[in-house]
Amino acid sequence: MGISKAVLPAAGLGTRFLPATKSCPKEMLPLVDKPLIQYVVEETKASGIREVIIITGRGKNAIEDHFDVSFELEQLLVQRGKNDLVETVRKISNMISFCYVRQREALGLGHAILCARQVVGHEPFAVLLGDDIIHSEVPCLRQLMNVYERHQCSILAVERVPRNQVSNYGVVAPRKMGDRLYQVLDLVEKPDPDRAPSDLAIIGRYILTPEIFREIEDTQPDSKGEIQLTDALRLLLKSQTVYAYEFEGTRYDAGSKLGFLKATVEFALRDPELGESFRSYLEELDLERLQPLG
Ligand code: UTP
Repeated sequence: MGISKAVLPAAGLGTRFLPATKSCPKEMLPLVDKPLIQYVVEETKASGIREVIIITGRGKNAIEDHFDVSFELEQLLVQRGKNDLVETVRKISNMISFCYVRQREALGLGHAILCARQVVGHEPFAVLLGDDIIHSEVPCLRQLMNVYERHQCSILAVERVPRNQVSNYGVVAPRKMGDRLYQVLDLVEKPDPDRAPSDLAIIGRYILTPEIFREIEDTQPDSKGEIQLTDALRLLLKSQTVYAYEFEGTRYDAGSKLGFLKATVEFALRDPELGESFRSYLEELDLERLQPLG
């Protein structure tokens, strides 16, 4: 069975970006001129998926508004003769079919995915996290879907990270199966660098079989009361094969301040309109003059 639906969990609290995220969803923070979540929706569409299920929570209405038709804005832009902007705004609402499911309490990523169960039904589906923005020739999700078509099992996107950073990620114990492809023998959440089974970290792109819902239901909350996807995946490993795929492309951890800044600089440098003048600005920047405040 092919993949036709993607779940985008966006109900987290975004505490790393407070106070910016007090009333504005983290997913709506702009990378140059588009909110983070739009990059992820564009990747989903470019991968050939036509139905997106966004998991939202309290204070996340701006996400729904962003992907909805903005009649007044379009009228105003038409009146002012700004037809190119009308096109830009209209394209967003015509992009793909959206469905919203509310996670009433932020009880973890696993729980957020479980909220999509009714809408997904009994079919394999994709999960994309807006924290990870990926620049690649072939969309990262499409790369995973290609692997899925051959192997018909859950696939986790992984990336090699420096050993001293493995404790920020879920890490796989791999058995090499082919070019960039591994069978997942085990998963360890946030391991100590000297205990990590590898340097292959799980990032925010997944293809999951529907059996994951049953495993999430059976997963106990962690010490913070959250139901973690990694724990459910460990349960799934007992009954199904899971693969990891080392995707091709550059990932930006836009859920952290430093990663967000790196993404902003690099996307701005690649921007057809801004790139050249931004590059000149950076080249002329007097770094000595700019010392940290405080
Ligand atoms: P994070 O671990 O990045 O948490 O969630 P967060 O709340 O978004 O951000 P910080 O760490 O407090 O700054 C990973 C993904 O899972 C979603 C988030 O929206 C994000 O896409 N998530 C997390 C939910 O949808 N619900 C939850 O209960 C937790």
